[in-house]
Formats: sequence, structure tokens, C-alpha cells
Amino acid sequence: MNSNLQSEGDINITPARKRWAEKNIDAQTKRLLDEDASCFLHQTLSTPCLNVIESCSGSRITLSTGQSLLDFHGNYIHNLGFGHPEIIEAITEILPKLSFSTRRYTNRYAIDLAKKLTSYTPSLTRVLFAPGGAEAISMAIKVARAATGRHKTISMWDSFHGATLDAISIGGEAVFRKDIGPLMPGTHHVPPPNPSECPFHCGNQCNLNCAGYIEYILEKEGDVSAVIAETIRCAPFIPPKEYWQSVRAACDRHGAVLILDEIPHALGRTGKMFTFQHYGIEPDMVVIGKGLGGGIMPFAALIAKEEFNEKIKNQSLGHFTHEKNPVACVAALKMLEIIERDNLLEHVHEMHRYSMKIMTEMKENHPFIHDTRALGLIMGIELRHPENGAKAADLAEAVMYRSLELGLSFKCSMGNILNLTPPINVSKNELEDAFTIINQALAELS
Ligand SMILES: Cc1ncc(COP(=O)(O)O)c(C=O)c1O
Repeated sequence: MNSNLQSEGDINITPARKRWAEKNIDAQTKRLLDEDASCFLHQTLSTPCLNVIESCSGSRITLSTGQSLLDFHGNYIHNLGFGHPEIIEAITEILPKLSFSTRRYTNRYAIDLAKKLTSYTPSLTRVLFAPGGAEAISMAIKVARAATGRHKTISMWDSFHGATLDAISIGGEAVFRKDIGPLMPGTHHVPPPNPSECPFHCGNQCNLNCAGYIEYILEKEGDVSAVIAETIRCAPFIPPKEYWQSVRAACDRHGAVLILDEIPHALGRTGKMFTFQHYGIEPDMVVIGKGLGGGIMPFAALIAKEEFNEKIKNQSLGHFTHEKNPVACVAALKMLEIIERDNLLEHVHEMHRYSMKIMTEMKENHPFIHDTRALGLIMGIELRHPENGAKAADLAEAVMYRSLELGLSFKCSMGNILNLTPPINVSKNELEDAFTIINQALAELS
């Protein structure tokens, strides 16, 4: 098995997956899974699918077998859990009145949302909405090209920015890039700030050589339009503060635009509205999505500095059919209202401290736990073989499948990282239940 294929998440072609399915999938579920596999194009990260979902609510999903699982994956959309009743109510109210906004018209909900989003970011003042994250990333690339008159980009190996052709060109994952032919030209890739596998041998303590390499390319090329990266990689890889400060300064020195992709973690998951706010910098553009639609509507946004509005006057950059979808805007507005009203950023900090305490104790007890880390409620438990430090990908996959049996769903990132992303309104009890399951699975399997 090429372990590069497991960077984004666990895949459906491993022997462990086959063994788990043989043991856990009943005849009725198998019929539906087979039916699904007979009509959808097969893809390594989804079809043939893992299981059949019947309902979702709060932090939980229920499968067609009746099994209820805590969902600490949620595709990063369930910031407030699945099917938040107040968001459903807001959507239900708007639907009979304004179910759609044709492109030549605006609507008050789109305007309110644009104003609300920019109120969190002093120098990012202009917004474009899109139906999904990859489209918003695509708009950002185009804005940077049009504004700078340059086309080259610098992005990161192991990154994910969506599955469209331009997004996989700047993305750095083999599972999307292999066997697909020529990608977009001018896309440089650099190593991500991941001290565990740093090609500059930083020795597990980032020494910013990876940031220095970005400036090296900016200097050598001289005409790079943009540096595009996830502020933190969801695995998670959490760079030190100086990393983004150094890249920000390098972009300024070389006239490149800094675009940060915060699609999975903006709007509260890290304990701040925007992840870059942990770093004391502002990008030129930030792209958000996933949770923006309140866990119900597909929705994303590009938020950019005022100067782009001056530079790009007569160009169409988005023009998506669902650009200012009022239903999605209402869902987003209600979600932001709830985050503010219920002090959820503070709740994230509290749950983060609680989770870190438990994960640190787990690390002391399990030799295979190499590292535990989190920013807010993006958490990772990295498994490596204690004797030689090699990735323990087989163990991570086995722990994931055993946890599913015990009632917890999460994904594995980079093959060997248990990646936990509960709703940001998760309760202490739910966190405790999840860690108890992982502890049990680790104890049984390592
Ligand atoms: C960091 C990041 N960027 C972009 C995307 C693409 O978003 P979408 O699936 O809405 O196109 C994703 C989705 O997983 C993501 O995690």
C-alpha cells in the first residue's frame, strides 16, 4: 500500500477495511452499500462507502443498523452539531419566502452575512460567496493572478484545498494528483511545517528553515502571485507563531499575495473566529467554508482586502449559480449568532484544556502515542513505533475501526494520526466518552 494515499484520510482499499466490513456489515446494509457502489463512480476516499447513515443529530450519527456513534469527524461541517434546531427553524422560516436569489439581484441576508464576516477582520473588507470550498479557492487564485499580473503560486506538499483541477494543482496529496495528467502550470510546492518529518531536519522543533525556503523560491522566481496554504493543517500540524509572521513578511517583500485556507477551521473551531488570529498576522485573503453553512447548507466564502476591489474592476471571478443563496446566508447568520450568544469560543478553550489533559495522560500510558496536539478542538493523536519512530499506520487504522465498533467515528490523517474534530459545542461527557473508547481500542491493540 502506498502510504502517500492515506494523507487526506483513511481509504477504502486496505485489508483492514475489508476485514472490518466482513465483521460489521449486516446483510441489509450490504445490499444498500452494493447498490450505492453500483451507481456511483468509485473513489478511494468514499465509494464504496463505509456504512449507511440513517440520521444525524448534535454530536451523533445513527447508522441503518441502529448503532449510534459520536461523530468526531463530521467533515468539519458540524460546528454546532448536526441539525441544530435553531438553524433548522431559521431555514424553515426563510424557505417559503425567499428560497433562491437569482444572480442579478442581491438580498438582505447576503449583505448582512458579508458585513458580519468582515466585522471580525479589520483589514479584510470584501467578500465573494461560492457554493463550495474548492470554488472559493479557485476565486482566490484568480483574484491573486488578476491583481498581481503573475500566475505562479507556492503551496504545500500534503495540503488539501479541494478536488477541482486548480485546487489539486496547488494541493499536495498523491491520492488526488496521481494519474490525472498535466496540472496547472507554475505551481511550486514546499514542505509543510511538520517537524516530525522535516526535510530540513529541524529535529522536532521547527527552526523556520521551511519558512526560509518559501522566501528562497519567492526570491529566485521573482514573479510569484501567491503563497496559498492552510493556516494549520488539520492533521493537525500547528506551526509556531513566528512561521506565519516570517511568511507574511516574505510575501510583503516579494509582492506576493498571502492566501490562507481556513475552510475546515474558521469560525470558532480553534477558539478564535479566524485561525490566523492566533498568529498576529492578517492574510491578504482568507477562504472559509464547511461549517459556514451551519452544518446544513453547502457554502463558502472568500474574504479579501479592500485593495483588490480597486485592482480588479471589470472581471467575473465567481458568478456561481448559488452565489448569494439566501437560505445558506440565513443558516450562516444564525450559526454566528449562536456562537456569539453562547460564548462558544470560550467553551472551545475550556474543552481544549480538558482534552489536552486527558490526551497528555494517554501519552504517558501508551508507548505508541508519539505526540498529542490540538489547537482549540482540532486534535490529533500521532502514533509511531516506540522502537524506531516509524509511522504506526496499521495501528492507527486498527484503532479507528475498533473505535467505530465501540461507538466513535473519526478519521485518520497522514496514515498515523487519529484526527478528532467534535462539534465546538461538544460536552465534557462526550469528550470523556470518546477518549475512553480510544483508550480501550489502544489498550486492546497495541
Ligand atoms: C483545507 C481544505 N480546503 C478546501 C477544501 C474543499 O472544500 P469543499 O469540499 O467544500 O470544496 C477542504 C475540504 O475538505 C479542506 O479541508
